[in-house]
Amino acid sequence: MTRPEVGELAVPDRTLMGPGPSDVHPRVLRAMSTPLVGHLDPAFVEIMDEVQELLRYTFRTDNEWTIPVSGTGSASMEAAIGNLVEPGDTVLVPTNGYFGGRMESMAERAGGEVVHVDAPWGEPLDPADVADAFAEHQPDVFGFVHAETSTGVRQPDVPELTSIAREHDAYVIADCVTSLGGVELRVDEWDIDVAYSGPQKCLSCPPGASPLTLNDRAMDKVLSREEPARSWYLDLSLLEGYWGDERAYHHTAPITNVYALREALRLVAEEGIEDRWARHRRVAAALKESLSAMGLALNSDEAHWLPSLNAMEVPAGVDDGAVCEYLLDRYDLEIATGLGDLEGEIFRIGCMGYSARPANVTLLVPALAEALEAQGADIDPDAGLSVLRDRLGEV
Ligand SMILES: Cc1ncc(COP(=O)(O)O)c(C=O)c1O
Repeated sequence: MTRPEVGELAVPDRTLMGPGPSDVHPRVLRAMSTPLVGHLDPAFVEIMDEVQELLRYTFRTDNEWTIPVSGTGSASMEAAIGNLVEPGDTVLVPTNGYFGGRMESMAERAGGEVVHVDAPWGEPLDPADVADAFAEHQPDVFGFVHAETSTGVRQPDVPELTSIAREHDAYVIADCVTSLGGVELRVDEWDIDVAYSGPQKCLSCPPGASPLTLNDRAMDKVLSREEPARSWYLDLSLLEGYWGDERAYHHTAPITNVYALREALRLVAEEGIEDRWARHRRVAAALKESLSAMGLALNSDEAHWLPSLNAMEVPAGVDDGAVCEYLLDRYDLEIATGLGDLEGEIFRIGCMGYSARPANVTLLVPALAEALEAQGADIDPDAGLSVLRDRLGEV
């Protein structure tokens, strides 16, 4: 085999306004160049404590069981589902987006019997339908997606959903991958048993260490399982040895990713979680209103609008893939096309974390208008830019 000749790493300088990852904050990148210490070094143990405390603040919870799972969002997702769901449990999952489907696959692999609560892609779950599904199936576990990245829908009425589950003595798992740190989320107040997330969305941190929190009630179920969780790596009863009081070896934590997450969460605490939610709403509203003023149709109702992921309809006759390519080639700017049932129907424009800044939106709006006009779309860019100027100042 010949010796490969590979040049120095060189990547384009992109602005990330897609469904994630988002732009990483420079302070987080700097934290990632910190030299390693051992994963059981007293200095690292202190960092672990700090990360747990910062995660509790960001999730709005006092749950002792709050950790970063080693791996991407799917790892914290599988840790949640694979530990809480026992073989034979009935698991209620939504059908209104791509990630409800992933919940279903994971629940089946954990040995659960899956039942559904339906809503069309692009709509949230209706609490009345959730109540009917509970009456019909009596599920043990109910999973829902708080921020559906495939459709740009925020699930409202979360306390209503969790109280239905509570009446039926069921456990609630919330997918908060695209909401944590960017959209109002109150784990304790809303009575969510298990919530998981990813770092590469509203926390603006590279993927690799993914937030997870469980209350005592959920952890009691996990620790009294009759058979162990099917994944050794994600078995929370074993991970307890590392993240709990003992601090004993389970696996080697991704130290650099934990440094990164610590810095990303420190930025959340410095800004203040509620101010951070307000910033996401303010900047994404400027984006949404300026696109509407151009004559473009945004896909979500105010009642379930997800500021971190804005779905915009593809105008008639426009090739969505060509628009994304145009933005990437000419502006080094990433947005995404639709997924699953909404493929070819929507653009997905992220406004997450460090990407939820006026500078990003003022780059995006005129560039997108230009890309759409190049495809023959009949829009009014000046009207959009004037709204943007009103909301965010000079463009
Ligand atoms: C809502 C939702 N859940 C789960 C995931 C899985 O996360 P990851 O791709 O980091 O494994 C994603 C990723 O985009 C997501 O948006």
